[in-house]
Amino acid sequence: MKTKDIERVVLSRLGDWKFDEHVSVIFDTHVRKSIPCYTQIQELIGIMSKELLPENSLVYDLGTATGEVIKSIHNANPIKKVKYIGLDKSEPMLRQAKIKCSNISNVIFHRVEIELYNYQPADLIVAAFTLQFIESKNRLSLLQTIHDTLKPKGNFILCEKIIYEESHDHDFYMDVHEIWKQNHFTKTEIKTKKESLKNVMLPSSLEENIKLLRKANFKHTNVFFKWSNFACILAKKS
Ligand SMILES: C[S@@+](CC[C@H](N)C(=O)[O-])C[C@H]1O[C@@H](n2cnc3c(N)ncnc32)[C@H](O)[C@@H]1O
Repeated sequence: MKTKDIERVVLSRLGDWKFDEHVSVIFDTHVRKSIPCYTQIQELIGIMSKELLPENSLVYDLGTATGEVIKSIHNANPIKKVKYIGLDKSEPMLRQAKIKCSNISNVIFHRVEIELYNYQPADLIVAAFTLQFIESKNRLSLLQTIHDTLKPKGNFILCEKIIYEESHDHDFYMDVHEIWKQNHFTKTEIKTKKESLKNVMLPSSLEENIKLLRKANFKHTNVFFKWSNFACILAKKS
């Protein structure tokens, strides 16, 4: 089946959204039609990593999916000695990541729940559009683990879809995103996907994400990307 046809099947499925075999093969094109500026965000993470990573560093990519973050960081640091560890609970997604990153020598992928993993001291941890899939009650302890895992002056990059605390703001920015998505999907496809994500993806507000990062002991946070209901934060360990 062609990618376009698989995407059509995925977007007509009822029930909860799954990162399964079907989604794994359409992910790279689908995500670019779902998250505004996705390619630019990945490029930005790569450029920032050039500044943030010392020689001989360790990078974790949480919810690595098809390995886009690792590929971007590697492209930006082709010579620097960096070890990459990509974590994801979906075997089909990891299969695509291994193919995409097959030219990177120092990368390993583990199939795990990121909340339960035993982390080694790291220089940079990235969670791009992953925390929103973690149960809300487990997010603070995951962020505390991330903070404690980082070496002093280590960095955490968090990208998330966000909601708005004021309902009129929320409706406005969701509508803006919906209008953007109409460039790529039919109104029925947008509605079906929204339904399927309802129970599995629970974004919080930008303020709530920053509050959680502070509670997890990140004292220094900067929003470095924002597009309507999407935001990326750089959080530095002291
Ligand atoms: C939207 S994708 C992440 C996209 C990816 N980081 C990127 O930049 O392209 C979310 C990923 O998180 C993974 N995931 C969700 N919950 C997880 C968990 N508890 N442990 C590990 N991986 C998880 C999913 O399998 C999926 O591949």
